[in-house]
Amino acid sequence: MDAGMLIPNTSPIQVNVNFFTVLLLVTFLIHLWIMNVMLGTGIIALIRHLKKDQQTDLSQTIAANLPFTIAFTINVGVAPLLFLQVLYGHLMYSSSILMAVYWLSVIGVLILAYYSAYIYDFKYDILSEKRIFFIGFTVVGLLWIAFVFTNNMTLMLSPDKWAMYFENRSGLCLNLTEQTLIPRFLHFIAASVAIGGLAIALYRQIQKDYDKTDEPVDKNKISQWDQDIQTGLGWFIGATLIQMSIGIWYFMSLPETIRGLFIGNNIYGTTIFALVIPLIIIMLVCGVRNNVWMSAVLMVPITLLMVLMRHLVRSAYLDSYFRLQDLPVTGQYSPLILFILALLAAIAAIVYMIRLVLSNRLETV
Ligand code: HEM
Repeated sequence: MDAGMLIPNTSPIQVNVNFFTVLLLVTFLIHLWIMNVMLGTGIIALIRHLKKDQQTDLSQTIAANLPFTIAFTINVGVAPLLFLQVLYGHLMYSSSILMAVYWLSVIGVLILAYYSAYIYDFKYDILSEKRIFFIGFTVVGLLWIAFVFTNNMTLMLSPDKWAMYFENRSGLCLNLTEQTLIPRFLHFIAASVAIGGLAIALYRQIQKDYDKTDEPVDKNKISQWDQDIQTGLGWFIGATLIQMSIGIWYFMSLPETIRGLFIGNNIYGTTIFALVIPLIIIMLVCGVRNNVWMSAVLMVPITLLMVLMRHLVRSAYLDSYFRLQDLPVTGQYSPLILFILALLAAIAAIVYMIRLVLSNRLETV
């Protein structure tokens, strides 16, 4: 069967495709950062409980922040979901139908994982030994959601596999035959642990810097924060080193023509790849030298370049079926202007809220 016949028709978009592409990539990047902090710190807290590591109150700090990061991950996930639907809706809806049961399970699992994170936070003191159950439940739930996302984001790129629907119409198809599935999933998990570790180090560093400007807290607290900075950087460096092997595995699992885009066959892809590798090494060196701020600053261009690479991979996978430039454009720009104004107002409100929460939080946990 010609796989192209299974792809639904596209709908016209209002403005030039580049507007939507930039919005998709920027909002996805923000989703990725916060998702990484949420999942990474959750995994670190779980491992600390498993190892019975109670040298500092770091797990309690993670518990207190987890409901916030989950809420932000969800809210900041809505924006790329909308832009993804605008640009790739005909592909993504189709793959979502094939795996409908798993896809819809995300909502239920997310509610339960979120609930468990709240119990882990609010009842932290009285839960004692049972903490491990609640943080464990949250982490497993979040890992499941990430796995479902990776399945869908890869299945939408492979219309040639959609004929499996005719053998299994129950919405229980996954993309398990996809070679990149496991390395791609592990790539996100290792990145989460690295960024989770970096977030811990940065959080404590900000608390220390903030402390200098206000009433100083006692020396014991400062030494605990220093210890947490070392712990966070340890996770960051360790996970990034493991990521190097996973990254090579992921890269090698890509089809040869797509891999070639980053090693000479495409100037744009090759430039991104040539930039990102030295940046990662510099970021690691900064981490080893305990330079938390510099590592965090470098993390921004590195993840941006990774998102651009991911977008190039997506376009290359779809090349024979669909190109974004093929979408018909109606040229209605006034809704876009209104949207940008609303977006700016929303960003200002969110920045204000984050500042309020942070100033209160940095003093208390
Ligand atoms: C809270 C748990 C969540 C986790 C752990 C999570 C994790 C992930 C991961 C790992 C990916 C990358 C998948 C891949 O490319 O292989 C991803 C992509 C994505 N996530 Fe989330 N996610 C979560 C919640 C959400 C929610 C609630 C939404 C929407 C409301 C959302 C929207 C998206 C979108 C739209 C993408 C794909 C963007 C693109 O391909 O350009 N996520 N997520």
